[in-house]
Amino acid sequence: MSKLRVSIVGASGYTGGELIRLLLFHPFVDILQVTSERFFGKPVGKVHPNLRKRTNLKFCGLDDLQECDALFLCLPHGSAQKSIDRFKALAPRIIDLSADFRLNDPLLYEKWYKHPHERPELLSEFVYGIPELHRERMAKAQYISSAGCNATTTILGLYPLFKEGLALPDRTVVEVKVGSSEAGNKATAGSHHPERSGCVRSFMPGGHRHTAEMLQELAFGRDIRIHFSATAIDMVRGVLATAHVFPGKPLSEKEIWQLYRKTYAAEPFIRIVKERDGNYRLPEPKLLWGTNYCDIGFALDEENNRLVVISAIDNLMKGAAGQALQAFNIMNGFEETTALEFPGLHPV
Ligand SMILES: NC(=O)c1ccc[n+]([C@@H]2O[C@H](COP(=O)([O-])OP(=O)(O)OC[C@H]3O[C@@H](n4cnc5c(N)ncnc54)[C@H](OP(=O)(O)O)[C@@H]3O)[C@@H](O)[C@H]2O)c1
Repeated sequence: MSKLRVSIVGASGYTGGELIRLLLFHPFVDILQVTSERFFGKPVGKVHPNLRKRTNLKFCGLDDLQECDALFLCLPHGSAQKSIDRFKALAPRIIDLSADFRLNDPLLYEKWYKHPHERPELLSEFVYGIPELHRERMAKAQYISSAGCNATTTILGLYPLFKEGLALPDRTVVEVKVGSSEAGNKATAGSHHPERSGCVRSFMPGGHRHTAEMLQELAFGRDIRIHFSATAIDMVRGVLATAHVFPGKPLSEKEIWQLYRKTYAAEPFIRIVKERDGNYRLPEPKLLWGTNYCDIGFALDEENNRLVVISAIDNLMKGAAGQALQAFNIMNGFEETTALEFPGLHPV
């Protein structure tokens, strides 16, 4: 079988670096080009030191991009929608990791992003990139918009309950704790070490844009609310979502187990983690570093009819590069887990 020629746009960033790492070990892919304007001409290992001696690739400029079989776009928000015609002319398949094409409805986009979408007519061409929800559509798709990391963690945790209409539609409260790599590799005043180190910073108590993805994917025709807050903690990789759900009718622990098992039994990257004892009885992001897993657990507070759903991922993997590669595998008819088999490390 001849290999697919794949290029990564914005490959000097954190998600681009992870994609290079993963694709270097993909048996059916050759990486054709990787772009960076800042590091034009420099070897990949200069920017991603973990890849020293694993590749001779050098960064090229956006203007040098050649035609290829698939493009991964790892650019800052807004760039993909500006240049999408050029990217489409270069490759028949595109996976965009930014938020540009995640929302189907231009009005929802405008509401949450505070400006009109530049190419609203193209939104319907992109399949929303959580494979566990849209696998069949992905298999036929040309364009996929990979989901947000906080959105992925939250949606996968809540999906079984919302799909079955078991949660009160307006009462779900979600808090995510996130690591610093979510913000990308550009230094800011907030990422400066003395400011960022040791922080527990409530940076988005309300109004987080990923809420729009949750509303889109969890509504199932209902009018729902997700009360979402995000806190930055002292961690490089990882998202932990704690969702407080109020079921419409009391649910037993056995019913919840059955629901999650039924929904996710065949999913290679979802693990239900709920054990009686031990340090890791509920999901914990650090165990997922470098893996494509989403671990999901729950606890029932029967007295208050409250169900706490806890989900965790590595934001750069299941929240970005890993999930994008999972989608790419589905799109191309490869085994979904190809090049995503890494089980993580313990201890870390
Ligand atoms: N980090 C996460 O956890 C995460 C998770 C899910 C989705 N995402 C999304 O994925 C995208 C990439 O995220 P990231 O964390 O990898 O960002 P990043 O580390 O900041 O990297 C951004 C990349 O885009 C390039 N770039 C920046 N401005 C550009 C421009 N005007 N024209 C062309 N290239 C430009 C940079 O290359 P230069 O070397 O030329 O500057 C760099 O390679 C973002 O849209 C982000 O929202 C991120």
